[in-house]
Amino acid sequence: MEKNPKITANDLEEHIREHDKLRLLLSVTRNISRELEIDRLLMLIMDEVKNALNCDRCSVFLVDREKGELWSKVAHGEKEIRFPSHLGIAGYVASSGEILNIKDAYADYRFNPDIDRKTGYKTFNMLNAPLRNQKGEIIGVFQTLNKKGGAFTVDDEELLSAIAVLSASQIENAQLYEEQRKTFDSFVETLASTIDARDPLTSGHSQRITMYAEEIGKLVDLDDQEQRVLRISSLLHDYGKIAIRESILTKASELTQQEYEHIKEHPNFTKSILERINFSRDLADVPLIASSHHEKLDGSGYPKGLKGDDIPKLSRIIAVADIFDALSSRRHYRDRMPLADIFALLHKEAGSKYDAVFIEALQRMRLDKLVLILEQDDIGQPDQQNLQYLEKFTINDLLDAIKTHVDSELVTGFEKYYLRNYLERPGSKL
Ligand SMILES: [Fe+2]
Ligand SMILES: [Fe+2]
Repeated sequence: MEKNPKITANDLEEHIREHDKLRLLLSVTRNISRELEIDRLLMLIMDEVKNALNCDRCSVFLVDREKGELWSKVAHGEKEIRFPSHLGIAGYVASSGEILNIKDAYADYRFNPDIDRKTGYKTFNMLNAPLRNQKGEIIGVFQTLNKKGGAFTVDDEELLSAIAVLSASQIENAQLYEEQRKTFDSFVETLASTIDARDPLTSGHSQRITMYAEEIGKLVDLDDQEQRVLRISSLLHDYGKIAIRESILTKASELTQQEYEHIKEHPNFTKSILERINFSRDLADVPLIASSHHEKLDGSGYPKGLKGDDIPKLSRIIAVADIFDALSSRRHYRDRMPLADIFALLHKEAGSKYDAVFIEALQRMRLDKLVLILEQDDIGQPDQQNLQYLEKFTINDLLDAIKTHVDSELVTGFEKYYLRNYLERPGSKL
């Protein structure tokens, strides 16, 4: 072997290229390993690849085995694309597992120009690589289009293959995570419907207050993580009612003091039951949040008599949604309380019992959304035209219209649903 081999300019260039490649790989790994939400992950991977390979576009096509299709949800600049999994170059790569570096797409017989035709895009050159999972199965295809300043190189091929290995395992993790999340969410929904079914007086309550809470959450800009905790906590907030005696829960006449005290135990039951569920770390606060929905800002609530900011923020949202649903729902012994009266009552208790910020947010809710929640399990399907009219207004607009008597069309348009005038029930007081 030669001693002290000379480092040539070529060696140095090669060395720098290898170094750059590793640096890029490291940054891609770092960036994609944090994301487990599948749509965001795919978007992120496509951006990373586009930058790493210095090309104009990157798509990830995933194999849908059941349908025998390849699909891409978030290709740059387009919506979901789907096609039979043997078609086009992506289809060829998905079945052969080859890396394909094509210098002139239109000269290749496998190229399917339909997508270009549909989108008005022009593909010149392309690099395709299969995505394989750890078992070696092909789960998708990377397709990068139009290298800037020339064709894709052998270095690009190596880099894309390496990124494909990292991406495939992260995509599989994300798919698994999504599946588990869906299973868990359907389990929570089922629990919520069992409690709603047990309590006919407040039928649909858990579903409705979840929708109100989610609307308030959106209007105060909660992030996705907080919205998820809010959703699960709302669905399960009254779950403890499962431990309340049926005769008391469904009693039509007034409750005795003792019976009322028994009902007031339900948040404690909610807490102790939910604490037995093995929530993931991001949902660890659900038992506390769900069980604090009857706490009041001035400490007059239950079960702990927490005050002000000691009450979790999301519980304060649920509390507003809870009282709003109670007052705006029909019971067998009374109709819905008029909306203006509900907000007069809420304003009186804003700051002392309920958080004013969330009452104010609720008032910014659009009326079409409100009607859909109010009517969700009723027979009267809201008319599309009515909804399109109502979507231009919020609860605030409606309260103004009621007060000033100026916009009577808005008031009657809404009350048609709120008072259920369209039913024309015989003997109705309305
Ligand atoms: Fe409750
Ligand atoms: Fe409730």
